[in-house]
Amino acid sequence: MFIAFEGPDGSGKSTQLAHLAEHLRNAGHEVVAVREPGGTPAGELIRAILLGEGGDIALDPRADALLFNASRAQLVAEVIRPALARGAVVLADRFAASTLAYQGYGSGLPLVELRAMIAFATGGLTPDLTLLFDLPADAGLARKSGDGRTRFEEGFDTAFHERVAAGFRALAAEEPDHWHTFNAGEAPERLAHEVAGVVDAALTRRS
Ligand code: TMP
Repeated sequence: MFIAFEGPDGSGKSTQLAHLAEHLRNAGHEVVAVREPGGTPAGELIRAILLGEGGDIALDPRADALLFNASRAQLVAEVIRPALARGAVVLADRFAASTLAYQGYGSGLPLVELRAMIAFATGGLTPDLTLLFDLPADAGLARKSGDGRTRFEEGFDTAFHERVAAGFRALAAEEPDHWHTFNAGEAPERLAHEVAGVVDAALTRRS
């Protein structure tokens, strides 16, 4: 089973992913946790360019989209497909929906072109379940400060992040059978409990 964690910056999805990984391992599942961009040696190098870790490099939104998808293609081929073939549960901290939300809804690139690029990069692999941690953009940005901030948090205005948050909601509404939305403003322990319940139910339905 392939589960993607999505949401605006500062939504707490990485913390929730760690909680769910522990919950599933305790239940006896093999869990493979990955993050985007990154998750492979090539992907981590691409991540440094994309998030400005190697200095402030100018990137056009189309170059962003291509680099995120280059990292994604490598991650799918090197890690995700082999893990799914072994029967592992794969938890991804962001996946293709982030490209649609950030480069599509946020930066204004055509969704249809991004969808074609994503299909090429992933070979058509889509998550079985996407968990959206929804939070108003300003609340998410306020949660992260200083060193933890990415180029997207530093260099893009609140209106951009509001479009991203609205984009995620639109994507969730398009595919209600494959997306589950959580209120990321809830207490982390309570949220972790709700997430585990949704995923346990999905795993039971598949077995
Ligand atoms: P994160 O590791 O803190 O989630 O940072 C990843 C940043 O990259 C975040 O600001 C969202 C952005 N992003 C995109 O713009 N497009 C993408 O396809 C992905 C995966 C991430």
